[in-house]
Amino acid sequence: MRQNFVADSSKGRWMSRSGKEKIQIAASILSANFSRLGDQVKQALDAGIKWIHVDVMDGHFVPNLSMGSEVVRSLRPIADKFDALLHVHLMVMEPERYLVDFVHAGASSVSVHVETCPHLHRTIQEIRALGVRSGVALNPATPLAALEEILIEVDFVLVMSVEPGFGGQEFIPSSLDKIVRLRRMLTERSLDRVQIAVDGGIHIQTIGPVARAGATVLVAGSAIFNDHASVADNLQELRAAIGET
Ligand code: DX5
Ligand code: ZN
Repeated sequence: MRQNFVADSSKGRWMSRSGKEKIQIAASILSANFSRLGDQVKQALDAGIKWIHVDVMDGHFVPNLSMGSEVVRSLRPIADKFDALLHVHLMVMEPERYLVDFVHAGASSVSVHVETCPHLHRTIQEIRALGVRSGVALNPATPLAALEEILIEVDFVLVMSVEPGFGGQEFIPSSLDKIVRLRRMLTERSLDRVQIAVDGGIHIQTIGPVARAGATVLVAGSAIFNDHASVADNLQELRAAIGET
């Protein structure tokens, strides 16, 4: 099959042959069946996924526990075979304590929540110094103003469209306006290189509006990994909903 896009994975971007940035779907493994995690990830990669999203929760910043750096270490060789990125979403207090650990385990990018970082600039610099892409995440009720001083330092913003902590929640509708305003903010600052990733409640009804609002990375968990259909079929439906095949 001729690929209609080319990888520039150093920047984590996949450009269409026409030079237009391709919208990425990222697969969040939080909803995968952990008894066969490797297989499920392979299915997603086989179906063309280039971002695997790893949700790390500490039972403190969010009311749930999930996984640690060993999961990243186990998935790295699988991701490498497909030239895919492993994105670590740290939903933990004091994330700076874990950066080295996750990067050494094989993370390609790390995002930290503004709500957990009193010294956000330093934390972002630490991520960059480790040689991976940096992201800043913000909760639904956190205003975009919290990003003003840091936008220029990051590779992407992770807009939470649900309260972090669990998969399978309803998309919060006001997130759409927030994405539009963030896209405007980036354009006004000539920072369109900064990607907008949106995380939570992405499924076939919400993915189109989110993409049109200006997101470039759409993180989906339960819409990809579920018992209703195969990973490949779920991805095909999501892509069809944003007009990508
Ligand atoms: C929520 C996580 C999300 C989650 C999304 O705290 O950050 O990545 O897996 O799951 P869905 O797509 O089911 O809302
Ligand atoms: Zn996430």
